Amino acid sequence: MFPSYTLSNGVSAPSIIVGTFQHRNEGDLNDLIRHAINHGYRAFDTAPSYQNELMLGNIFSSLLNEGNIRRKDLFLIDKIDGWQMHASKGDVRPYFEEALRKLQLEYLDLLLIHWPFPEYLLETWDVFEQIYNAGLARSIGLCNVEVRHLQRVIQQASIVPHVVQVERHPLNSVSDVITYCHKNGIVVQGYSPVCRMLPKVAASPVIEVIAEKYKKSKGQIIMRWHFDTEVAPVFMTTREERLIEYADEVQSFRLDEGDIAAINGMNEDFKLFLGSRACPGY
Ligand SMILES: NC(=O)c1ccc[n+]([C@@H]2O[C@H](COP(=O)([O-])OP(=O)(O)OC[C@H]3O[C@@H](n4cnc5c(N)ncnc54)[C@H](OP(=O)(O)O)[C@@H]3O)[C@@H](O)[C@H]2O)c1
Repeated sequence: MFPSYTLSNGVSAPSIIVGTFQHRNEGDLNDLIRHAINHGYRAFDTAPSYQNELMLGNIFSSLLNEGNIRRKDLFLIDKIDGWQMHASKGDVRPYFEEALRKLQLEYLDLLLIHWPFPEYLLETWDVFEQIYNAGLARSIGLCNVEVRHLQRVIQQASIVPHVVQVERHPLNSVSDVITYCHKNGIVVQGYSPVCRMLPKVAASPVIEVIAEKYKKSKGQIIMRWHFDTEVAPVFMTTREERLIEYADEVQSFRLDEGDIAAINGMNEDFKLFLGSRACPGY
């Protein structure tokens, strides 16, 4: 079983999350989620732009009705997209309610702002606080932020974000955001955690030597690096083998300081996902 993080409001959040981006076939998604649950995963991540909320609603509703899992044991994450912030000028509540309807849920475990568009960032955060205070989201946070976005929100908000989700892998270690979050009691989730195993990662001599040393796969080493640096990876796969690869065995060892430093040293601020042009400074 995977360990959990305790968010600043006391909510327990799994330390590894299964992403669903680019999963648009309900049969495949159903298989993936059932396999993931069988292998101990409890957290799942989506967004309106992934176009699978309706499918996920059907899948989770079936699982819950079959009694295979209880709602309180799942940790379900959805987001408000940038276009929704713009279209509603930050009054995003109707989009949130639509997401709950599609997902057939009474509440979310984590609601995230997908992109910190400056125009409606504070207005959207204000609505997030209302949603949180109404008990419709057990935690709230932001994605794709720089420290300056967080400072702006924290200065004006009543609730400090519980979670931040950013692109994080050996080629993009985002240490400034992580340090800031950890100082402020914010749990960090890292998406694209293995950088899709691009050749630069898969063929990295640094990862290769460490994998050899611990007798683990390269993917397991990178996942362990996230855990050992207190980041919860949000990964995606189409294969059950990968779910098994990243499950129990990754919990059975720790990287030593030198190996963590060596992987940190691979950073080159490389991003798979470009920042938004509407977020000045990226
Ligand atoms: N908040 C945001 O703005 C945001 C943005 C992007 C993504 N996300 C979330 O993050 C999740 C993961 O993103 P991602 O897909 O970019 O990340 P990823 O987990 O780094 O990459 C997944 C891809 O890498 C392959 N892969 C994984 N382990 C491998 C290994 N050991 N060897 C070879 N190939 C391997 C997988 O193939 P297989 O199918 O063969 O395993 C899959 O094609 C998304 O699903 C989404 O939920 C969030």
